Amino acid sequence: MPNKFYLTTPIYYVNARPHIGHAYSTLACDVIARRRRLLGDEVYFLTGTDEHGQKIERSAKAAGVPPQQFADKISGEFRNLWLRMGLTNTDYIRTTEPRHKQGVQHLFSTLQKNGYIYKATYTGQYCVSDEAFQDVPPGAPCPDCGRPTETISEENYYFKLSAFKEKLLALYDEQPDFISPSTVRNEVISFVRGDLKDLSISRTSFDWGIPVPGDEKHVIYVWLDALANYITTVGYGSEAAADKEKLAKWWPADLHLVGKEITRFHCVYWPAFLMAAGLPLPKRVVANGWLLFEESKMSKSRGNIVRAETILDAFGAFKPDLPKSEQDLFGADVLRYFLLREIPFGQDGSFSFDALVTRYNADLANGYGNLVSRILNLAHKHFDGNVPIPTRNTFSTATASAVGTLEASFNGSFDSFVFSKALESIWNAISIIDGDVSSIAPWKIAAAINPSDQFDSNRIQLADLLYDWMEAIRIITALLYPVMPYATAQVWAQLGLGSIEDAAKNGKLKNLQWGDLKPGTKLGTLGPIFPRADKGIIQIMTDMEQKNSPAVVPAAAEIAPVPAVPETPATPSFISIDDFAKVELRVAKVLVAERIPKADKLLRLEVDLGTETRQILSGIAEFYSPEELIGRRVVIVANLAPRKMRGLESHGMIVAADTETKPALATFLEDVPLGTRLK
Ligand code: MSP
Repeated sequence: MPNKFYLTTPIYYVNARPHIGHAYSTLACDVIARRRRLLGDEVYFLTGTDEHGQKIERSAKAAGVPPQQFADKISGEFRNLWLRMGLTNTDYIRTTEPRHKQGVQHLFSTLQKNGYIYKATYTGQYCVSDEAFQDVPPGAPCPDCGRPTETISEENYYFKLSAFKEKLLALYDEQPDFISPSTVRNEVISFVRGDLKDLSISRTSFDWGIPVPGDEKHVIYVWLDALANYITTVGYGSEAAADKEKLAKWWPADLHLVGKEITRFHCVYWPAFLMAAGLPLPKRVVANGWLLFEESKMSKSRGNIVRAETILDAFGAFKPDLPKSEQDLFGADVLRYFLLREIPFGQDGSFSFDALVTRYNADLANGYGNLVSRILNLAHKHFDGNVPIPTRNTFSTATASAVGTLEASFNGSFDSFVFSKALESIWNAISIIDGDVSSIAPWKIAAAINPSDQFDSNRIQLADLLYDWMEAIRIITALLYPVMPYATAQVWAQLGLGSIEDAAKNGKLKNLQWGDLKPGTKLGTLGPIFPRADKGIIQIMTDMEQKNSPAVVPAAAEIAPVPAVPETPATPSFISIDDFAKVELRVAKVLVAERIPKADKLLRLEVDLGTETRQILSGIAEFYSPEELIGRRVVIVANLAPRKMRGLESHGMIVAADTETKPALATFLEDVPLGTRLK
């Protein structure tokens, strides 16, 4: 029976399109999945999308489409990207699927039946972006992401999280590697040691979620819903015999790979839910750090994202003769290698196109690629396109010793998630081999061969040397396969070894033995694997990001069916900074506010802009009384052309967030001088 290995990525929110931060977690899992398979494990690799909750509901509303339609669009984009990148996930779960809903409701009922759920009223500060209550005073921003929190008071269902404090601490104590890296583990432990409060697990203020069974005005808390994906995907909650078997086979998961910001959910809430439901716990939670771009976390809200598509397209263009699908796989390899080599896993790391191109040229084009092409071309030329037949069984070159212990050291680092070190060990070997090749100068030996003498000593020496180097290349290529499946497949075929995927399946990429390369094997067709990159590609990628990127959140026009006769011209996805600069947003203070006779919706305001006083008519009378507004600091569009309403001139507009309940007026926590411009 093969060992089973079940690993998961976080499921991605569908409020915005994928970027390389998302690709990072997913490709890291793919690398692990491929390696486990080549070791002989039966692997279940799960990814998917997290589609419920207020955040998604609001994004869909902003785009003007129903949430399901919005979720379908973005979830499809994630799925397509993973396909383009050749990722080998076994399943792709969407939390809006019936199989998942059924499982989540079953989990809720089980927690209820086991006595871990009660109802109570709670008033607190909620961060919609993180979908979590925060222990901060009203008006204070979210301590995790800095965005404003909202005061929410609701009768909710509660999970008795506090009852699990000791059990959780015992778990961390007994299984020290349950959470890694240790920095994250320490944070989790101190969170649990603190005041571990019960957790609100239902909401009534919106309805885009899975209803609480038997009390449908509540929807289940999005994190309870989302975390359950790890079990619903393998059949939890289904009565079908096949699903029960599937669950028993795969659960518990061997590894949850998660971003460091969501470890509290995975290391505290999730094990507590599972304990309460009487289910086994996952074996490990490993956190990856953040990809930073221009110094801060790459994220939709900061707008500092880089899309994986840019890299697939730019590097794919190096292979103009290949079909687009293969170009994408080549580009994906470059991204996979770069992210795992450049950033020590678990730590934050900066992404830049410059670093990507520098590493590509140094490690792939000039390093691995150049070694392969030098050696294989010599063999091809001097040994009739075959692997040379060596005369010796023992090898004394630096090469043999450089790769002798390579698999062991590579595996050691890889299994502790130190991917960068695993790759570094390979590149150390490559540079030793390169040094060996340069100092021996096989081309000189080749030049001295007497073609009419079959037993010429130069030919014999060259055969021995090339065989050594080709063996080293085979071993390196086998180890690199999970990281660069496409490029290593090319090298493998050039070595005459056929399909690397087959080799992985047949156990030929593990327990690598020196001498397994069969002398006399016919080499495949040779060709460059990693063409050198011109620095100009940096500008090409930068331009692609600036000009060709679709908006991070799709516009309504992209999601909604296009009307036969559009009533309004399509809105462009982006405006330039110059366009934005045309809008003069300024801070003002309301001096006078009064109702306008016979106009239920309008208030007449006089606002102080520091240098002048303006009259503005605002359609907020249904939501704000004049008294609430007087003295309040607001933001106005100061250069809006004046217009007449109800016979009165309105010069400017008050800026407000268009929430479902009432327009929330833009304001500041700081004391900003009147007239200050917003930029
Ligand atoms: N939906 C939740 C997870 C639920 S899991 C049961 C969520 N989604 S997310 O889309 O906001 O982020 C998911 C994951 O994407 C992060 O945990 C992280 O793994 C990855 N990343 C998103 N931005 C990232 C970076 N800038 N850098 C590295 N990883 C990033 O949280």
